[in-house]
Amino acid sequence: MTLEQDVLERISPSAREREDIAGKVSSLLARAAEEASREDIGLSVILVGSVAKDTYVRDPDLDVFILFPEGVPRERLESIGLAVGRRVLGKGEERYAEHPYVHGRWEGLEVDMVPCYHIENTSMLRSAVDRTPFHTRFVLSRLEEGEKDQVRLLKQFAKGIGVYGAEARIQGFSGYLIELLILRYGSFSGVLKAASEWRKGTVLYLDRPGSRKFREPLVFHDPVDVERNVSSALSENGLARFVHAARSYLAAPSERYFFPRHRELLDLAAMEDMVGQRGTGVLVAGMERPPLIDDNLYPQVRRSIDGICSLLESHDFRVVDRSFHVGEEISFIIELESLVLPLGKRHGGPPAWVDNAYAFLERWEKEGLGRPFLENGHWTVIAPRAHTRAEEVVRSKLSTAALGSDLRNAKVGTVMAGPDVFREENRAVLSALLDKRMNWEI
Ligand code: UTP
Ligand code: MN
Ligand code: MN
Repeated sequence: MTLEQDVLERISPSAREREDIAGKVSSLLARAAEEASREDIGLSVILVGSVAKDTYVRDPDLDVFILFPEGVPRERLESIGLAVGRRVLGKGEERYAEHPYVHGRWEGLEVDMVPCYHIENTSMLRSAVDRTPFHTRFVLSRLEEGEKDQVRLLKQFAKGIGVYGAEARIQGFSGYLIELLILRYGSFSGVLKAASEWRKGTVLYLDRPGSRKFREPLVFHDPVDVERNVSSALSENGLARFVHAARSYLAAPSERYFFPRHRELLDLAAMEDMVGQRGTGVLVAGMERPPLIDDNLYPQVRRSIDGICSLLESHDFRVVDRSFHVGEEISFIIELESLVLPLGKRHGGPPAWVDNAYAFLERWEKEGLGRPFLENGHWTVIAPRAHTRAEEVVRSKLSTAALGSDLRNAKVGTVMAGPDVFREENRAVLSALLDKRMNWEI
């Protein structure tokens, strides 16, 4: 049996699983339709997503959309949509990034219940998710029976290498994008061969391209709405990882791409050795985790680590590498060329012939680490730095850094640097920084 057949055996639903899922779908849809009809405003419910398209891999979620007549105001769609979802799913959980929906469970399966407008065509979009039923119909009408397994393989590959999902935490490939790639290239191996040649800026489409220019790393014009990029969530690193994985897999296929081994945290002593050998220094800063859903939290965490690095750079520290870990709290980790800078720093002043030259002299004759001197006609002095230690900068200046808006007021936890950081409580964030192995290399 070939590797890919073997993977398919492991991920495709068996006849029994299909039957079981079909049963749960019909009971869920019946219950949802009943709750929707109680609203008396002409709601209907449909199944969308990978179960509707038969492109799911083991343990799928059920995606149920509640269709609202176009005349219903947006606030009513939101409140009624959530109310219906909650009545069906019991203690479901509301999740919003831009669009409200309820996430819960039904007979052991995860369920998303999402309100949207029932529109005639995609030029009449009212909310961000109104295209989804069109996506489901499009894939159902175009994907051939034999291609469904190819979708499953590619989904599992993307999952295995860590780039499956358009959510902010992953910034990867959505299920719909995976389906379109199979439609575009015909097979799993066709997609990988093509992907080995992709570049940043590669533009793909099915029947015809749209006219809009997108600036995202990869562009796939949505066949149901060509002015939209299906791949808009994919990050540069997500694209790069996929291209690299495709090339490596084609050179030496392995089941590890689909089913990576568990990544154990690196050994503390090994990490300390690694940093010791580099002669660099590591700083770890903890922050209270604000109660946000991941789609809102992750962009802010990424912005914040950039902000902290810029803060350090503006204080003359040189950043070698950085990462973060979101656990019970948020931990930022930054590797610097040096954690400590000398007290003295060159400070340039005005030319000797300008009027305020005296003000400079007066100040720095008192505060300089030595007398001001002339260089190319300009007063210059070796001035003391306000902060010589990186952790001091982070402790005292964090509020001035460009942090994500909900992190600006979050409580700052411990900030530590140097050999001190190599302790058990920091193992996860140290590992996030120092473990550079790809999932399939573990
Ligand atoms: P999913 O993320 O469940 O993807 O969203 P999928 O195609 O079913 O793939 P898998 O197999 O579960 O991973 C299903 C559809 O519902 C829409 C998505 O856009 C997607 O087309 N959706 C889901 C939303 O629009 N909003 C949501 O909050 C959830
Ligand atoms: Mn789904
Ligand atoms: Mn879903």
